[in-house]
Amino acid sequence: MPRVSTLSIRKMKGVAKVVCTTAYDAAFTQLADAAGVDLIIVGDSLGNTMLGFSSTIPVTVDMMAHHVAAVARARPNALVVADVPFGETARSFERLLDSCIRFVQQSGADAVKIEGGVELADTILRLTRSGIPVMGHIGLLPQRVNQIGGYRRFGKTPEEVAALIADAQAVEKAGAFAIVAEMIAHDAAREVSASVGVPVISIGSGPDCDGCVLVSTDILGLTPGAMPSFAKKYADLGTAAREAFAAYAAEVRSGAFPEKKKTQANESK
Ligand code: KIV
Repeated sequence: MPRVSTLSIRKMKGVAKVVCTTAYDAAFTQLADAAGVDLIIVGDSLGNTMLGFSSTIPVTVDMMAHHVAAVARARPNALVVADVPFGETARSFERLLDSCIRFVQQSGADAVKIEGGVELADTILRLTRSGIPVMGHIGLLPQRVNQIGGYRRFGKTPEEVAALIADAQAVEKAGAFAIVAEMIAHDAAREVSASVGVPVISIGSGPDCDGCVLVSTDILGLTPGAMPSFAKKYADLGTAAREAFAAYAAEVRSGAFPEKKKTQANESK
């Protein structure tokens, strides 16, 4: 199967749903890729899911680069997208460009993802003109959680719907190959998807977009604490892992493991 490209994702609009998840290491990348996921985002959800932070805000370019490289080294067929972390788009364009080049050139990402709409269209245009493929992200922007005052749904009023459509169209015009739409009212998300020619990928924005993304730890039952209401758990690996660790601990404490015979056999090798 040929590797997924930004062009092939673009061409899926109106033809097939784009299947997308997050990954942060080689092991889970290989599993998602083998399952046929089209697009893997190394999200700054890394902060909550892997690094023990309570939001995405403390995540830095260095942290992202480390995990993007692990995902890209797994050489997935899926397209690998690196999230641009908090604060980077507010600094100089040169610094942002350096970070994006680092993600693509050194870490091996195929593209970057940027949270923001109309206000970042010029920045996205400069990046795409510099050869950096960009995925947009509109609706709820978790990097602005302190400004918004919490996580909430967008697109509930006609003004918000108009603003979301303007965001999507500005980001598309700036050259984005796809757009993540987070926590947008379902009717509004349908309108947003219909208003642009690139795939709009829903996270908590209902079924009428061009694809879906869920955070991998939610899919796998590995999210510590409560999951977002829109997420769906397809396996309970958290329980399976806890039980495996407990069984291992019990056997070590009782002396049942390591087994004498096995150890001797290995030593003779
Ligand atoms: O950080 C993240 O996981 C995201 C998701 C919307 C993919 O941005």
